[in-house]
Amino acid sequence: MYSQIAVHAPHGGVVPELASRDHAIRLLPMVSELLSNAKWDPTTLSGVAFTRGPGLIGALMVGATIGRTLAYMWNIPAIGVHHLEAHLLVVCLEDPAPAFPFLALLVSGGHTLLIEVSGVGHYRVVGESLDDAAGEAFDKTAKLLGLPYPGGAALSRLAEQGRPDRVVFPRPRLHAPDCDFSFSGLKTAVNQYWKQLCAEGIPTAQDKADIALAFEQAVIDVLVAKVKRALADTGLSRVVLAGGVSANQRLRGVMRHAIVAEVFYPRLEWCTDNGAMVAYAGYLRLSRGAMPEPLGIRAEARWPLEAC
Ligand code: KG4
Ligand code: ZN
Repeated sequence: MYSQIAVHAPHGGVVPELASRDHAIRLLPMVSELLSNAKWDPTTLSGVAFTRGPGLIGALMVGATIGRTLAYMWNIPAIGVHHLEAHLLVVCLEDPAPAFPFLALLVSGGHTLLIEVSGVGHYRVVGESLDDAAGEAFDKTAKLLGLPYPGGAALSRLAEQGRPDRVVFPRPRLHAPDCDFSFSGLKTAVNQYWKQLCAEGIPTAQDKADIALAFEQAVIDVLVAKVKRALADTGLSRVVLAGGVSANQRLRGVMRHAIVAEVFYPRLEWCTDNGAMVAYAGYLRLSRGAMPEPLGIRAEARWPLEAC
C-alpha cells in the first residue's frame, strides 16, 4: 500500500492528473520492491491482477498498462479486477471467513452499496446512495470542521470527545420503504447548523466534537436501518462490512449489537484501498477459470458491479 494522501491533501480532494502522474512514478519501483522484499522470482507467479475499473481513467490506465505489460513479459495471465469486488471479497481472507451467501455493505469514498453476494462473480445490488457516498459525506463534514483531507478517520476520532444529545441531525430516507441511501440532506443540515454557530461566535473544539458525533450517529443509524431492511428483504443471515468507512469503530460496534445476523469485516488495513484485496480477487477469479485479459490494455471508468 502506498497512499497519495500527501499529494492531494493540499488541494482538499483528489486531483486526477496528479493521481495518474504519481501512479506512473510509483508503480514500477513498488513492484520491484515488493518482489525483492518477498524474495519472489517472477517465474514463480501464476498471474498479475490489476484494477480495471471503475474509477479515474488516468490512474486506471497507468495500472492497466503496467499490469498487462508485466504479465506479457512474464508470460502469465493478466486479470483485470473490479475495484468493488476486491473490497467485498477480501474479508474471505479472514478467519473465520463468511460463507456465501452474504449481504455486503460497501461504504467507501465513492460508493454506498448494499449487495447480495451469492458467490464470486454473483452480485445483486439491493440498495445504493442516490447522491453522496457515505465516505464523501464524512470527508465533506470533516472539511467543514477544518480537518485535513480525507477527514473520515479524523472526524471519527473527534466524535469520541463529543457529547451526545447536544444536536440531532436528520436521518435521510430512514423510513423509506427501500434500501437506498441519501446523504446530501444531512450534509446540508450540518452546514446550516455550522453557519448558525459561526454567526453566534467562533465555534469551540467542543462544538466541533459535538457536531462530529451527531453527524456520525446520523450516518450510522441510517446504515444500520438499511442493513436491517435488506436482511429482511433478502432473508440473508450474514453481513459483511467493506470499504474505507467500514474501518469506523462506532459503525462496527453498533452493527454488532443492532443486527440479528453474524457480522464480518476485514482487518483495518484491508478496509481502505490496498493491493492485497486486488491480488486476492484476481486469484479467486483465476482459480475459477476466468478468461485472462486480452493483449490490449483495458480500463473502465464506469463498470457496474453486476456486469463484472
Ligand atoms: O475504500 P476507500 O479507501 O477508497 C475508496 O474506494 O473510496 O475509502 C476511503 C473513504 C474516505 O472517504 C475516508 O474518509 C473513509 O473511507 N474512512 C472513514 C474512516 N476511515 C476511512 N470514514 C469514517 N470513519 C473512519 N474511521
Ligand atoms: Zn476503494
